[in-house]
Amino acid sequence: MHYRLMIVLACIVILAACSKAVPEAEVDPAEQGAALLVPFKTKLKYELVTSMQAGLDEAIATCNTAAPGIAASLSVDGVVMGRSSHKLRNPANAAPDWVALWFERYLAGQSQPVSVELDDGRHGYIEPIMTQPLCLTCHGQDLQPEVAEKLAQLYPEDQATGFAQGDFRGVFWVEFQAD
Ligand code: HEC
Repeated sequence: MHYRLMIVLACIVILAACSKAVPEAEVDPAEQGAALLVPFKTKLKYELVTSMQAGLDEAIATCNTAAPGIAASLSVDGVVMGRSSHKLRNPANAAPDWVALWFERYLAGQSQPVSVELDDGRHGYIEPIMTQPLCLTCHGQDLQPEVAEKLAQLYPEDQATGFAQGDFRGVFWVEFQAD
């Protein structure tokens, strides 16, 4: 009786170990990419919302300095990520070639993320970003004069205005070594 119980327990432990190992061996790269982007998106949104409470000048300055810093701090261990667009505000956010290839599809209405195989066992993942009401203050059609002025000062080549709610604004992208 006692031995049987021990055998049953041993089997449960072994089975539990197996069921854990199988999904790990089959990690879906799209899920991996989506998970890598979560802290980037969360931190950016937090910075944007809190800095907007301190005023628009402050918010623009924060986007200018914080956004590239957050992407850089999360781009470690072979992971590289960023934000980009077909209409750039900051030319330093230019998309890698494999990302830029997808802009046309997104402009034509595709709204799903994209997961692609790159060279050398690397993987790419893209999530589209749609324009929300909050974004119009700095990317919309009628900017307040002080916003327009501040943007012109920081971004003389700014192309990222004139968007309407629901428009494709750009992408989050990440590149990594697939497991
Ligand atoms: C307070 C002004 C402000 C608001 C509000 C704002 N942005 Fe931006 N956005 C900026 C600035 C400034 C940059 C340039 C950041 C940099 O230098 O990397 C930028 C850059 C971007 C980029 C990177 C590509 C590029 O054009 O350089 C994307 C994508 C973007 N914004 C999307 C959004 C979305 C989506 C929202 C709404 C959720 C939003 N922004 C709200 C000011 C703003």
